[in-house]
Amino acid sequence: MDKTQQIIGVFDSGVGGISVLKHLFDALPKENYLYLADSKNAPYGDKSPEFIRQRSLQLTRFLIQHHAKAIVVACNTATAAAASMLREQFPSIPVIAMEPAIKPAVEVTKTGVVGVMATSGTLQSAQFAALLEHYGQGVQVVTQACHGLVECVEQGSLTQAHTRQLLEQYLQPLLHAGADTIVLGCTHYPFLKPMIAEIVGRQVNLIDTGQAVAKQLLRRLSEADLLSKQDEKGQVAFYSNAQQKDAAQVVSALWGQPVAVAPLPI
Ligand code: DGL
Repeated sequence: MDKTQQIIGVFDSGVGGISVLKHLFDALPKENYLYLADSKNAPYGDKSPEFIRQRSLQLTRFLIQHHAKAIVVACNTATAAAASMLREQFPSIPVIAMEPAIKPAVEVTKTGVVGVMATSGTLQSAQFAALLEHYGQGVQVVTQACHGLVECVEQGSLTQAHTRQLLEQYLQPLLHAGADTIVLGCTHYPFLKPMIAEIVGRQVNLIDTGQAVAKQLLRRLSEADLLSKQDEKGQVAFYSNAQQKDAAQVVSALWGQPVAVAPLPI
């Protein structure tokens, strides 16, 4: 089998990683992708690191069985808990993972106050502490665990009053502290960007990591000589283990066009 034609496997605790997949497809449109939404187990943010490691392992094995040539962990929470373990277990496959965009946020803040919205799993992780230690010097970083937002996006509730209420509650302390730059440290949150922007105003920068991850994937595939050589656009296949009947509807709405969603059997 021509390795360059194999799929890129992408997974998240649910549909949030579709925000990353969009950047991947924009940057690398000739690749074929297989996306796994572990929606049955969302949110990961309040699960134990051990549980998240087990799920990440199962999802990665599923992707490798489907001939993944690279894995993208499109989830900050799973990255913090499992990325290094996945790299150890699968040393021959590039594993690209993500972390909250503290570095670019520190570079653009003018008030010297950066807000970070993320899951409590991410904020409590050793990786996040290391990130702050490394890049957060000289600025004030105000963190906000955003319980309930992942669920809003999982249900496709991007503009509902309840979602707005939660966002106002979480953004208020960041604005109050003087943040002019807010890091969207969970891959579900870019789908709430229009509403977040409406609440915080245009003068506040909103930063996420999707584009940086796409660049990193391009670099890793290119170094390993694994870039697709086909001329036409690639295919994207979706799997989900969501219990709700309208999983395909939510995935299609977030992806931006109608797509079929196969049941994820794990
Ligand atoms: N999209 C995941 C992330 O980036 C959400 C985690 C969760 O399910 O709590 O952190």
